Amino acid sequence: MASVSSDKRVPFIAGNWKMNLDHLQSIAFVQKLAWSLKDANHDFAKTEVAVFPPFTDLRSVQTLISADKLELGFGAQDVSAHASGAYTGEIAAQFLKALDVRYVIIGHSERRQYHNETDELLAQKIAIAIENGIVPVICVGETAEDLELHGQSAVPVAQLRAALALAGGATNIVVAYEPVWAIGSGQAATPEQAEQVAEQLRLVVAEILGDEVADATRILYGGSVKSTNIAGFLRKPNVDGALVGGASLDIAEFASISQFRKHVGT
Ligand code: PGA
Repeated sequence: MASVSSDKRVPFIAGNWKMNLDHLQSIAFVQKLAWSLKDANHDFAKTEVAVFPPFTDLRSVQTLISADKLELGFGAQDVSAHASGAYTGEIAAQFLKALDVRYVIIGHSERRQYHNETDELLAQKIAIAIENGIVPVICVGETAEDLELHGQSAVPVAQLRAALALAGGATNIVVAYEPVWAIGSGQAATPEQAEQVAEQLRLVVAEILGDEVADATRILYGGSVKSTNIAGFLRKPNVDGALVGGASLDIAEFASISQFRKHVGT
C-alpha cells in the first residue's frame, strides 16, 4: 500500500468552523475533540490537527488549550491587511499573535466571493501574517465556470502566484486547494484531480520561494472531505492534508478524519 504523503512533511488536518459555534460551544467542542483524539491514541507528531474558530472564540480556545496543555493547534479565519488604526470591525495580526494564534486562513472562496477580496488584498494579508509570525493558510480554487473555461489548474495557479506577490523570503506557509464547486456540495474532487493541481501549486511555491520551501510546504485539499474519502487524498504524494468545513463540526467525524492513517493503513 502506498505510504502517506511525503516523509518530509507532517500531514495537517485543519477544521474550518466558518460562522458556527459560539465561545461556550467552542470550549465544549474542543474538550470533547481532545478526549476523542486521546482515546484514539492520536500522535500529533505524526498528524497535526488544528481548529479554526470564529474570532470571538479564540480567547476561550487559547485558554483551554494552554490550561489543559492540549496538542491541538488553532487558527483564525481571516486577518486585516492593516497593522492598526481606523478600520472598524477589522482584526489585526498582532492581536491574533497575542492570543498565540498559529495559523490564519487567507483567501477562502467565501471571503473572495461575499467580501470581494481581491488578489492584491490577499497578498497584503499574507504579508502581514508572515510579518507577525502567523502561518497563512492560503486558499485557492476554481469555480465550476472556471473549470469549464480554463481547466482545473489555471485559476488556482494564477491565484497562488498573485497571493505570493509580497511573500518573498517566507519560509512557512500552507496552501489549500479548494475547488469552489466542491465546497459544501458533497461532491469532492477526485484524489487524482487534487494531486494534479497540488503538483502545479508546489511548482509555483518553488518558483517564488525556492525548492526547499516548496518541499516543506503542506498543500491541503478542501471541499466535501469526509472520513470516507480522506485516505484517498492523503495517499497522493503532493497532498499533505485537508481543510475540512462541514465535517469539522462533527466531533466523531473530525476525529476520524484526523485519524486517517487508520484508513490508509500506516
Ligand atoms: P466543506 O468546506 O468541507 O464543507 O466542503 C470546506 C471549506 O470551505 O473549507
